Amino acid sequence: MNALPSSGSIPAKSTDRWEPGRCAGATKSLGGFLRTIELDAGAAADHADAFERMRAGELQAVVVHGVYPQVVLDRLVDRLERHDPPFLKTWFPEKFRSWFFGRNLNLSRPDLAGYFEEAAAFNAQLDALFPAPGITRHVGAILASLDRGRPFVAAPGPGTNQRYMFTTLRAHTEGGYIPAHFDNEQTLRPTYRHLHSIVELHMTSFVLALTMADAGGALEVFDLRVEPERARVLSDDRVTDKPDVSVLDSVSFRLPPGSLILLDSGRYLHRLTPVQGARKRWTACSFMALSRNHDATYCWG
Ligand SMILES: [Fe+2]
Repeated sequence: MNALPSSGSIPAKSTDRWEPGRCAGATKSLGGFLRTIELDAGAAADHADAFERMRAGELQAVVVHGVYPQVVLDRLVDRLERHDPPFLKTWFPEKFRSWFFGRNLNLSRPDLAGYFEEAAAFNAQLDALFPAPGITRHVGAILASLDRGRPFVAAPGPGTNQRYMFTTLRAHTEGGYIPAHFDNEQTLRPTYRHLHSIVELHMTSFVLALTMADAGGALEVFDLRVEPERARVLSDDRVTDKPDVSVLDSVSFRLPPGSLILLDSGRYLHRLTPVQGARKRWTACSFMALSRNHDATYCWG
């Protein structure tokens, strides 16, 4: 089945397609606007200023290879396909043909009723699925290395011992996509009220690829930037004055399994292009922002 035409598949003016290795060794400006570096997970400490450069607007994307080896991913995805462990399963809006294990904060109840109980169970199941010391500590340590050792942790909730979900796992099936948006639109939603009170405005995100779609399923980033205080909601059908992606240049990333991309996704317009083929695109995705007192970076899914 071909991917249906959708707001996820209107082509950009021109698209620079990243290939693994293109930005190894030195920062490259992909598409003439997206400054990107590429490194191996084991060498993260050699790039201790990466987050600093992202916050300063000097670097927009970091690709980290070898976060998990293929043999681990094979075992892990096999379990995900069998819904083992029995994660909380929630859904994107139906037309996106995608679901989550875990609960996306944007799709939670405005008062977050029940969210933190679900998060406690979900974070424990995540640790049972990923090899020791668990995804939170493993990915958290890599991210910390890219920010001079500052810890990356699941954001604390409003109550004692409460934590947000560190990430969510996402399955995008054939035809599944996400329309163009800025991640910082979530700062405008009621579900973000508490996070708003404990983090800085500037937000980044990571996507860790667990599988790669047969074709499509690319993270596409457009040459359109907004500052954090100018957030606006775009991923809502009622919004009509959306950016016209057909007049924008873009860069697209099809990440190999085990690789992770950090993106200045609060500032840069981006989307997921429709997945083609029968193989699901499995990822772990989190959002991140500095705590108000800068002693940690808080993550949530
Ligand atoms: Fe996003």
